[in-house]
Parts: sequence; structure tokens; C-alpha cells
Amino acid sequence: MKISVVGTGYVGLVSGTCIAETGVNVACVDIDEKKIEKLNNGIIPIYEPGLEDIYKKNVEKGRLEFTTDLGASIKDADAVFIAVGTPPDEDGSADLKYVLGVAREIGKNMDHYLVVVTKSTVPVGTSEKVKQAMLEELEKRGENIPFDVASNPEFLKEGSAVNDFLKPDRIVIGTESKRARKVMKRLYKPFLLNGHPILFMDIISSEMTKYAANSMLATKISFINDIANLCEIVGADVDNVRRGIGSDPRIGNKFIYPGTGYGGSCFPKDVQALIRTADEKNYSLDVLKAVEAVNYRQKEVLFNKLFKRFDGDLKGKKFAMWGLAFKPKTDDMREAPALVIIEKLLEAGASVVAYDPVAMNEAERILGDKISYAKDEYEAIIDADALILVTEWSEFRLPNFRVMEKLLKNKIIFDGRNIYDPEELAELGFEYFAIGRKT
Ligand code: UGA
Repeated sequence: MKISVVGTGYVGLVSGTCIAETGVNVACVDIDEKKIEKLNNGIIPIYEPGLEDIYKKNVEKGRLEFTTDLGASIKDADAVFIAVGTPPDEDGSADLKYVLGVAREIGKNMDHYLVVVTKSTVPVGTSEKVKQAMLEELEKRGENIPFDVASNPEFLKEGSAVNDFLKPDRIVIGTESKRARKVMKRLYKPFLLNGHPILFMDIISSEMTKYAANSMLATKISFINDIANLCEIVGADVDNVRRGIGSDPRIGNKFIYPGTGYGGSCFPKDVQALIRTADEKNYSLDVLKAVEAVNYRQKEVLFNKLFKRFDGDLKGKKFAMWGLAFKPKTDDMREAPALVIIEKLLEAGASVVAYDPVAMNEAERILGDKISYAKDEYEAIIDADALILVTEWSEFRLPNFRVMEKLLKNKIIFDGRNIYDPEELAELGFEYFAIGRKT
């Protein structure tokens, strides 16, 4: 089989590379010439564990290629995946200009039956727009080439995207066409050896599934964050509460870890877009509106604790920050809670020295010389008034507290991810602040 994947961002690159792994010929397409040049020279623009190995292997085998030529990439292809970005525009709704632009390009260039699969996260109803855009282009050409559209949302998590793609919990495919279903089944069968299902459904339900999944997950996080804040007020420990509720399988113990609020390129954008879709239909998604409001508030919780601890006097103080990425195992800093905390610290006249195992380049690109950058976690804390832990990288979990107490100016830790043991830190003489815990 042969496919074309348009858009070599995080979703396109992981999907294309993983599909090549099954023996399918994959052409990954992007309009960004520099990016394609890099990919043709062995440079992967994102950090994603495990990606480099299978990328190299499949390029060597001649199954995976990178090009700016969309027209050539769809010659002889069975399917074309649209995996370009849908950035939020000013009012929070997803901007579809890239998705529909690609649909038009396909319509202009196709010469045989194709399944056109939307893999980008797009608002409910977009596949229909993709179809219309393609029909318009074919009409302009006076051609009547058959094609089908399908929606195939991705559920990859940054940091474990390759594993998620190779061993999916489920594959969701929305299409009304039998012919398209057959093509998609062939493509995805190799990934379903573990017995997990391929769920065929209508297009609108498939589009909705993606938003409902991310919104449900975001809801879990805002819910536990709200409970964590209340735990502090009433004197309970959210870590006990989390374990107490998580052992009920209806609730489950995954994805209920309190923290500094959800970030990343997906949850904030998707929650906003779904609220917007509902508003446009005169329906108010009140639960999700609250989820969003709680998340904004949660990003400031750690700063507020610190502000209170230093009696509002942060001028001239220096704070060490461990972790900048929105979560571990990625260099992605989009909507990262660290950015909100840094901004508030700088506004209050404090300075920040940061260390992140992977996101240092990305941080410098975004923050420039607004903060200082340390070469490791210990250098970051030298003479710091306190340590603020924002991202729970595993290398921060068991630091040498004896070394830390010598380097820090004050033995104070603000832990935004509850990774330390309050009792242990108390014994070591640290002042410890966490989220929703008895400290
Ligand atoms: C999320 C979804 O988990 C994926 O299924 C989906 O495919 C993806 O969005 C997408 O739409 O592309 P991702 O953004 O990579 O994946 O990150 P998550 O691992 O879901 O974490 C999101 C945020 O929630 C992070 O800021 C994380 O720190 C926070 N989080 C997560 C918590 O605060 N507590 C938890 O218990 C879990």
C-alpha cells in the first residue's frame, strides 16, 4: 500500500513513521522547505522517545520519504492523511485554513480514487467541508474522480506517541463509505494484534469522539485540582483522597493527579473549541466552562503559595525552577504552567534560574534572556531563595537533599506535582509546600 501524510508536525510525523513500520510506503509532505530538508538529512524537528530509531530504519528501507510536492505524493496512493495544524483563532475556534487548503490541493492534483482522511483535530462538521472543498476543485477541473472522506482522530500522548500509535487502545474511524472502510481496515489491522478494537462510526460521531475524549480528561484534571484545593482548606490530604477514589474502577486511578493545571497544545485548545462549537449552536457547555476557569486558576496556585510564604515581598529574590515543559518526556512548552509562574515571578520583581532535561532550547527560544538557564538541576538551585518544581521529570524524583540543602539559600521547596514525601522533607528540615497535601 501507499499513503501520503500531509503535515510533518507531531501527529503527521509520528503517524507517517509508524505506518511505514508495517511495510506501507509513506510520503510525508510539508510546505516548509527547511523542515523537509532537515528531515531528508536525518534531523527530526521534535523530541519524541523512540521516533528516531523507526524513522531511520524506514528511511533506510526506502519506505519513508519527505517531500514538499503534495501532487507527486498522492500519485498511486491509496489514502491521504491530513495532519496539518488547526491553531485557535482570536475567538478560540479552530482555524481551518490549512486543512481546507490541503483539501483543495488534493482536489487539484488527484487522478484516481482516494480516501481522504482527516487526522488533525477538527471541529465537528469539518470532514463535510473537506469534501465540499475537494468537489469544488474537481468541478473547476471538469473532472469527476471518485473519492471518500474519513475522520480518524488521534489519541497520542506526547512523550509516548510512538508507543501509543503502535499499540493503540482503539482506532476510531468515521466514514459512511464501505470502500473507504476497507482501505482503513487494511492500513490499521497490523496495529490491532493485541485485540483492541477498530471502531467504525459515522463521521460526525468520530469528530465528536476526539473532543469528548480530551474534554473528559481535562475535566478529570480540573476536578481533582479543585478537590486538592479544598483538601488544603479542610485539612485533608489529596494524595489519600486520590487513592481512595481511584480504587473504584468506575473512577479509575489514572489521570487524577493534581498539579499546576493542564497545559500542552491539545487540552486548552480542544476544550475551548468544543465550548465554542456548543455556543454557536446556542448550547452552553457549563461543565467545560468551569473546567477551563479552574485550570486558569490552578496555574497560579503555586505562585500564590510562594507569594504568601514571602509575605508578598519577592523583589530581588531568586527562584530555581525544575522543569519547564508542560509535562515530562517532551520539550513542548505550549500553554505550560511554567510560563505563567515565570511571568508572575518576573512581574513581582524576582529572578528565575531554570533547568529542564530537554526543553532548554525551546525555553530560550520563547523566553530569551528573561530568565537564566542552568546546566543541571543542582546548578539551578545555587543561592536560590526557594526551589519550584513544575514538571515531574523522573530525574527530579530522588535528588540528593543533603547536597541541595548546602546549595539553596533557604531550604524551601514548592512542589507543583506532589512528587516528594512530606514526612521525609520535614525530617530533613525542609519547608515543603505541595498541592492539596498536609505538609
Ligand atoms: C492529550 C491526550 O491525553 C491524548 O490522548 C490526545 O491525543 C492529545 O492530548 C491530543 O489531543 O493530541 P497530551 O497533550 O500529550 O495528550 O498530554 P497528557 O499526557 O494528556 O497531559 C496533558 C496535561 O495534563 C499535562 O499538562 C499534564 O501535566 C496534565 N495532567 C495529566 C495532570 O495534571 N494530571 C494528570 O493526572 C494527568
